[in-house]
Amino acid sequence: MKRSLNPNETNGQLSYEYDRGSNYEDELRLTTALSALIPEDDTRHPDHRFFQVVHLISEYAWVQIHYELRRVIEHLDADRPQRASRLLARAVGLSDITVQSVRMIGDHLPQHSLLMMRNALPDDATGLDSPGYRNLKRVARAVSKSFEAALDRAGLKLPDLIAAQDDTSGSPEDSQALASVREGLLRLDSGFLSWKHTHLIMVWSQLGGQPGLRDEGRATLPQSLGGRSVSTLETRSDVPLFPELWRSAEEAYWTLGTRHDPGTCPVTH
Ligand code: HEM
Repeated sequence: MKRSLNPNETNGQLSYEYDRGSNYEDELRLTTALSALIPEDDTRHPDHRFFQVVHLISEYAWVQIHYELRRVIEHLDADRPQRASRLLARAVGLSDITVQSVRMIGDHLPQHSLLMMRNALPDDATGLDSPGYRNLKRVARAVSKSFEAALDRAGLKLPDLIAAQDDTSGSPEDSQALASVREGLLRLDSGFLSWKHTHLIMVWSQLGGQPGLRDEGRATLPQSLGGRSVSTLETRSDVPLFPELWRSAEEAYWTLGTRHDPGTCPVTH
């Protein structure tokens, strides 16, 4: 049955029709997906649709990243690191979509619109309840475990994978494949941190609280709808999905690098 996303549009040419009973809509469950959009008459502000769509795009991308990471786990558990790498690369591509989405808000949602819409949101509406974000953090812990187990079975440690990046080292192919997985995980985590930092910068531009100006600002910082100061968002913004990878990057700095002051080296002191 043909439906319209804007049934009150009087100009038939501007009506957004869907649910035409086509196989295209049916296969993609597009009719249901489009029905999730807040009807135009119920939107609180002309930019409300943009706000919703950008959130939905991010949530869909996180769903798919989660799905791919479950496949990554299966491949790692079955010692198929090359296949794991291929799917990780896909997850990294999807995570670019989330960064781009939040950048869209920073660049194209006028602050005035955001503040007007926000005034009408419920007190406890917080991004902390995002299912995509919460599940991503949970699945990442399972990916870490599977990766560590795969390394154990191969008799390798993270520093071996960094050493395998030396193209002249002649290290065996299985360590090369696991080295690619490590690089993929690091890229995925970089994408996750990019999302957090881009989101944080966007929050400063929409709500204020930019830390460089704190000493000249008010005593109270802007708050989330949950009542937390934006500074708590800042503290969370550097927390990665795969802390071990970042620890080993630092270890490599101290063990392989020579351009540092040995007096401050935690490995030798
Ligand atoms: C439209 C402008 C936006 C503003 C002003 C905004 C503001 C905020 C604030 C203030 C917090 C801290 C929440 C708290 O402490 O309770 C937060 C967290 C969060 N927001 Fe947004 N946000 C916006 C857009 C988005 C978008 C597009 C997404 C994507 C789905 C998103 C997802 C999240 C997530 C996942 C968190 C938790 C982050 C963490 O714990 O590190 N936000 N947001």
